Amino acid sequence: MQSWVPFIPESASTQSGKVDALYFYLSGVTIFFTLLIALVIIFFVIRYRRRSPHEVPRPIAGSHKLELLWSVIPFLIAMSFFVWGAQIFFANSKPPKNALEVYVVGKQWMWKFQHTTGQREINELHVPVGRKIKLIMTTEDVIHDVFIPAFRIKADVVPGKYTTEWFEATKPGRYHLFCAEYCGMNHSGMGGWVVVMEPTEFDNWLSGNVGAQSAATSGKQLFQTLGCASCHGTSGEGGRGPALLGVFNSQVQLASGQTVRADESYIRESILNPQAKIVAGYGPIMPTFQGVVNEEQMVQLIAYIKSMGSNAAGAAVAPSAQGSPKPPVREMPK
Ligand code: CUA
Repeated sequence: MQSWVPFIPESASTQSGKVDALYFYLSGVTIFFTLLIALVIIFFVIRYRRRSPHEVPRPIAGSHKLELLWSVIPFLIAMSFFVWGAQIFFANSKPPKNALEVYVVGKQWMWKFQHTTGQREINELHVPVGRKIKLIMTTEDVIHDVFIPAFRIKADVVPGKYTTEWFEATKPGRYHLFCAEYCGMNHSGMGGWVVVMEPTEFDNWLSGNVGAQSAATSGKQLFQTLGCASCHGTSGEGGRGPALLGVFNSQVQLASGQTVRADESYIRESILNPQAKIVAGYGPIMPTFQGVVNEEQMVQLIAYIKSMGSNAAGAAVAPSAQGSPKPPVREMPK
């Protein structure tokens, strides 16, 4: 299981080999120059030692050639760190489009996971092998950090916003998950396991854990109980608030003249702080839902809004979604 190099965690994702390669390159260059400089120092100490008490050294005029050489070579080596590192950084920080999404909420001191199909887990995350998994993460309290050494991924979860990371596991197994940001007394105990399963096994696990309804369905119910539907006519006709059908990931024209992409963070902000970015043509009349909607409910509301956007017919996304797939349109109260 362990790598042949001591202290190197198991390598179990498509990215981990690339991260290791860069890491070994950095270590190799460091070891090479440490040895080179040490040997040259020893050689110079002996070769140029003072041989008589009254010795006067020969003056040196300097050498442009030499100075150029010892500037250009380190520059090129440093740039190779930068380019290679940036490549891996960008690949790691841009989740692929077709990834399976899992919502993660950190809390002192546990990890809560929610699959789009509704299954929830605590301190354990089941995923299929060979699928790209995107974690959409936030926290209910302080900053935490999701660190899965075997996948070589690590990202902070920050109050008030969503961060993401992604991985594709390459072999089934149980991999440790750590909180990597000091978050109070039980920080060291805030860990868990990622359980990577064969796809068929994963499907069995999913269907064995139905009970729960999909995140989008829960979101739809919240949407009704919180009264959102009375302003946001779901199928596009006018209301006091902008229609939400197809809005997810679209470019939204704001009253300020700017445009924003309606991603998870924008929707979250619009629910908690509706006045921050008002859509063109609407008044600043929406009340805040700060303190009304918790992080897990937020995730469900966003899942519901996503489900309206991902197909224009308004059909439910999740196979386990219950009831009529078409979101009911409430009449505007007069
Ligand atoms: Cu959560 Cu450290």
